[in-house]
Amino acid sequence: MFELMGRRAFVTGSTQGIGYAVAECLSFKGAEVYLHCSKDWEKAENLAADLQARTGRPAKGIAYDLTEADAAEKLFAMTGPVDILICNASVQFRCAWEEIPESEFEKQINVNLRSSLFLMQKYIPPMQQNHWGRVLNIGSVQQARPHTHMAVYAATKCALSSLTENIAKQTAADGVTVNMLLPGVIATPRNEEALSDPVYRQLTLQKIPAGYAGNPEDCAAAALLLCSEEGRYITGSSLYVDGGMHL
Ligand SMILES: NC(=O)c1ccc[n+]([C@@H]2O[C@H](COP(=O)([O-])OP(=O)(O)OC[C@H]3O[C@@H](n4cnc5c(N)ncnc54)[C@H](OP(=O)(O)O)[C@@H]3O)[C@@H](O)[C@H]2O)c1
Repeated sequence: MFELMGRRAFVTGSTQGIGYAVAECLSFKGAEVYLHCSKDWEKAENLAADLQARTGRPAKGIAYDLTEADAAEKLFAMTGPVDILICNASVQFRCAWEEIPESEFEKQINVNLRSSLFLMQKYIPPMQQNHWGRVLNIGSVQQARPHTHMAVYAATKCALSSLTENIAKQTAADGVTVNMLLPGVIATPRNEEALSDPVYRQLTLQKIPAGYAGNPEDCAAAALLLCSEEGRYITGSSLYVDGGMHL
């Protein structure tokens, strides 16, 4: 089950954290993968070479900043059509809602929401022609439990959820599923600093019914189901991977 031999996958923001774990998992299951980050080509290429050596499946590293207006176009030109698109990259700023500057609002909207729409516009039509495709948008537990200092980040994920459901309904008949995976607190470089503060860590863990932070591999396992042939009847769904934090 869950074999991906012959499939091509593009995971945005996959040089570390959840994106890397998902790409690694897809590669171990047989997919050809594109690892991606904003600017550091060398890092992406080195990681891809290492992954290819470990899994024996083709892997390529690419870089392009998703804040750029032409990101979807440029990235599609680099990868060509794929079978699996995972919109994983995001940015988040911590700031009280009264003080959120326009620059932070725009960057979060551009990377977390805008780029995902335009990537779907580019990548889904060839999937429809092929009568097979998997799109996975990465949301957040903050859609249900917003952090007081990440109002815009949470709002971008809620908007992405709406897009996910809307597009899923319109592509289901063509064999293309569009789902959302919503991580809770996952130990990645992004929140390393915040969680290294023992007081903040304790407060955060108290909000998780399972009592501990997840790891990127927990997300990879769920992503694999949603990207597989076996996941063909799951579309427009939101799958929390959060130890029950959304409850
Ligand atoms: N970690 C958590 O606890 C958690 C919880 C809920 C939801 N999530 C969601 O899960 C996803 C992955 O989170 P993570 O913690 O694994 O993230 P992360 O460790 O911060 O990694 C983010 C990745 O996205 C790339 N990226 C960021 N901005 C970019 C841009 N403008 N253009 C292109 N690439 C960009 C980064 O590359 P660069 O190094 O080039 O910036 C990096 O590869 C995100 O959507 C996040 O919102 C995470």
